[in-house]
Amino acid sequence: MDAIETILTRKSVRQMMPDKEISKDEIMGLLEVAAKTASWSNSQPWEVFVVSGDSLVKINEIWREEMSEGIPDSRPDLTFPHREEWQQYKRYQDNVIGFGQSRKEYAEEMGIGEEEWMKMTLESLSNNYFSSALVILALHESATTYSHYDLGAFATNFMLAAEEMGYSTITAASIVFFADRIREVIDVPEDIKLVVGIGIGYADEDHPLNKPESPRNSPENSQDSLIRQLSFNQNSCICKSR
Ligand SMILES: Cc1cc2nc3c(=O)[nH]c(=O)nc-3n(C[C@H](O)[C@H](O)[C@H](O)COP(=O)(O)O)c2cc1C
Repeated sequence: MDAIETILTRKSVRQMMPDKEISKDEIMGLLEVAAKTASWSNSQPWEVFVVSGDSLVKINEIWREEMSEGIPDSRPDLTFPHREEWQQYKRYQDNVIGFGQSRKEYAEEMGIGEEEWMKMTLESLSNNYFSSALVILALHESATTYSHYDLGAFATNFMLAAEEMGYSTITAASIVFFADRIREVIDVPEDIKLVVGIGIGYADEDHPLNKPESPRNSPENSQDSLIRQLSFNQNSCICKSR
């Protein structure tokens, strides 16, 4: 696969094949690639915890216990944004709503009732998407906004390398929902803050949870363009600015 094809092919997979293992060497190989990521002054701020085997079984047990009666309030190290926070900036909020709607519409089209869809979603969520391993990404508490930028780039490179090698991934805040309980299973220093997790495994290709695609705004569409202004020397094009 070339880089563009890999970027276009990757999507979040919310149902992996249970019982498929990924070895330490395979994960280490992907982390070696991700370590090539550019970072502010080459600070390489990423802190990585890899959870698999018995530790993953334990974390999944805890997740199922925490979510046995639905999704409770999470207890992450970082405060999670809620779509209400973006009401001042409609495009972000619309995209969040559009994500939920596209999944709902897919379920309706497939004749999957709301209750059944919720059940599948909760089962997937409370088993960390049946990932073969979790790669938990973290930063020191002194990390700057640019360290968060660097960590996101690291995550993306990790996911693309994984895609290229035939694995599937999902970046998910839900993997660090209960940061206090992760600390019961793995040794996380107090000054290291868990930011997000990447579930990696093998996609259950035919599972309905893996079918809907998250819609994207197009740079071509001047109404909700992600580009505020385009300006070229020749053939100058000024997009409508919001
Ligand atoms: C920081 C971050 C946190 C995310 N958390 C979750 C999550 O908790 N649960 C989930 O189902 N998807 C989560 N996602 C996946 C996004 O919903 C997904 O990337 C987006 O809808 C675009 O879809 P795609 O990855 O399939 O292209 C997260 C993605 C990012 C980058």
